[in-house]
Amino acid sequence: MKDKMTFKRFIGGAASAALLVAASTFSASAEERITRLADLDPDYEFYPLPPGEGVEDTYFACVACHSLRTVTNGGYSRRVWDELLDWMVEDQGMPELDPEEREIILEYLATYIGEDWEG
Ligand code: HEC
Repeated sequence: MKDKMTFKRFIGGAASAALLVAASTFSASAEERITRLADLDPDYEFYPLPPGEGVEDTYFACVACHSLRTVTNGGYSRRVWDELLDWMVEDQGMPELDPEEREIILEYLATYIGEDWEG
């Protein structure tokens, strides 16, 4: 454990890897979004992930190694999720996602588990 690179150190070190992501064109109506875990039905099939486009892909890509509570513990900006996906692959053994799949998952995370998310 002590030899493992923490995510915080990883994003510190990767700050120069300027990964510019095209501005999001996604336009889900904010009213329909669930932004708090407490508001999500525990019987929802992808619980604890909030519903939204890409939820299924995200569920199956992330459930293999850890609880999805790890994913919904905190909301992050798109930039941080982007770097977190790299960290998951480079340091935590996640198989690299194909670019289309990665974009779907990144879009989902940035949109539905963004900085306003309360896990
Ligand atoms: C191959 C295994 C594996 C897969 C697949 C995986 N992760 Fe992880 N993830 C890890 C490990 C290992 C950790 C570190 C756990 C720890 O902190 O003890 C981690 C930690 C995390 C953390 C906590 C980061 C922090 O702040 O310390 C988040 C968030 C996360 N993963 C998100 C994801 C998401 C989103 C996906 C799916 C796209 C995913 N993980 C898929 C292995 C994986």
